[in-house]
Amino acid sequence: MSDPSNAPVVKPTPPEAEVLVWDVPVRVFHWLLVFSVAGAWLSAESERWRWWHETLGYTTLGLMAFRFVWGWVGSRHARFADFVRPPSVVWAYVLKMLRLRAPRHVGHNPLGAWAVLALIALTTLTGVSGWLIADGDAPGWLEEAHELAANALIATIAVHVLGVLFSGWLHRENLVRAMLTGRKRATADQAIPAAWAGLGVVMVVAVLWFWWSQR
Ligand code: HEM
Repeated sequence: MSDPSNAPVVKPTPPEAEVLVWDVPVRVFHWLLVFSVAGAWLSAESERWRWWHETLGYTTLGLMAFRFVWGWVGSRHARFADFVRPPSVVWAYVLKMLRLRAPRHVGHNPLGAWAVLALIALTTLTGVSGWLIADGDAPGWLEEAHELAANALIATIAVHVLGVLFSGWLHRENLVRAMLTGRKRATADQAIPAAWAGLGVVMVVAVLWFWWSQR
């Protein structure tokens, strides 16, 4: 008779379900940022749209300040510590990705995380340089720096969106929908316990109030 103590231990796979992974402030941050960056970009060339360009530019800076703080104190998948990985890990991920073997991540994947950091850095650079030239008295090199940062930001956004689509295709999941609903297929222990909806409402009200105050 076979000895049951020698039988291989098969760990049961925890069941997956649609669970909450992106809190409301992260989602509000993301879509307000998309709106503000797109609006600032579209209104950049005309004097007539200057109010929108500057107001939306300052909005991106407010959003950056929020995201910096939320990266330290926010919910699990929003924290920098949850997704920022060293270059060696990112490189290993890139190699797996090239062979279409990149593992799925419930939060940002190691490569996407670096794109997120680049987007945050370039948005901040574009916003700060725009702020410094807003009075019209700034040296030419600063205006050029603003344009350069903005162009680099647009190029990085293009890479970001392609990366989101590619990753979604590879793992047969809709990441854009997840950024809207906050939900992804995952195990219960990967879920976040609270949505922080109240803070999301405060963010929307603060931005609307800011736009109103700038009239
Ligand atoms: C329509 C265009 C866009 C789509 C469809 C899109 C979609 C997404 C998705 C699905 C994620 C989550 C990625 C993941 O699951 O790891 C994400 C994250 C992010 N996106 Fe976009 N994005 C768009 C445009 C932008 C723009 C214009 C910016 C501006 C800089 C931006 C900045 C970010 C940032 C900073 C994050 C990280 C969110 C966080 O952790 O707080 N995205 N985006």
